[in-house]
Amino acid sequence: MKIVVFGSINMDLTAYVPKLPLPGETLFGDSYITVPGGKGNNQAVAAARLGADVQFVGRVGDDIFGQQVLKIVAAENVNVSQVAVDKEKRTGLAVISVDKNAENAITVISGANWRMGEEDVARAEGCLSDADVLMLQIEVPLQASLQIAEIAKRKNVKVIFDPAPATPLPDKVYQTVDFITPNETETEILVGILPHNKEEARQAAAILHQRGVNNVIIKMGARGVYYDNVDQKGFVQPYTVKAIDSVAAGDAFNAGLAVAIAEGKPIAEAVKWGAAAGAIATTRKGALPAMPYRAELEKLMREQG
Ligand code: RIB
Repeated sequence: MKIVVFGSINMDLTAYVPKLPLPGETLFGDSYITVPGGKGNNQAVAAARLGADVQFVGRVGDDIFGQQVLKIVAAENVNVSQVAVDKEKRTGLAVISVDKNAENAITVISGANWRMGEEDVARAEGCLSDADVLMLQIEVPLQASLQIAEIAKRKNVKVIFDPAPATPLPDKVYQTVDFITPNETETEILVGILPHNKEEARQAAAILHQRGVNNVIIKMGARGVYYDNVDQKGFVQPYTVKAIDSVAAGDAFNAGLAVAIAEGKPIAEAVKWGAAAGAIATTRKGALPAMPYRAELEKLMREQG
């Protein structure tokens, strides 16, 4: 089962702090880590750890962060042969604070990620012929993501689109992708409803259906996940875990969902895979290191359903 991920790759500099700083405030933190991240990269590594054959298409700068990140990601069984080294821009960087409640605040310097364009789309197209799923996020230019989504649609490759970070989207996106997976704040930016419960999520999903997307999955973190593909609607309760760091939990969710969809699992089961993958990611520090392995996901689902 093959998954192509077209997206961002960053180095994450993550500080663990008692609380997120206010504007103008200087705080003492407890510790920091420097680990690979980027929404595309996290999704790629998580999908590989969950058992997929993963091809990653992205861009790094010609610098030490790019070299370090690629070495680590390649060791995770992600095929990085289609990650270009960009001479013009530096590797993407994310500066992250995580507080005692596992909440985070992230600043992304896109660097080479924002140079993704036609050349990258062409390389990605070459990888799609035997792919089951294409995973997209929008830490790279939306136009490039949309172009590869349209190609995937023509080739009958399922497209899972994570509208993160949040931005309003043209209708063409909804008409092209198969799945859209916003979290609460992304849902609010897309449709003007901040969902707190199943009913509000259902209302938001109805608007997204009207715009043309069939499968809507609304990630509400500790409140659970609502899914709605018109024929089937449902709600998945959150898994109970000891959360210490929520960075990249959404990326892990999308990878769990993608692997299950690529394996032909029904939507209700695939959403559970996403929820379990996301929950496991919150139990470890950092982005890439926190991504879930298949054995622990299956164990959590056996224990909690
Ligand atoms: O989704 C988490 C990711 O967002 C981090 O790894 C960081 O790089 C930012 O892209």
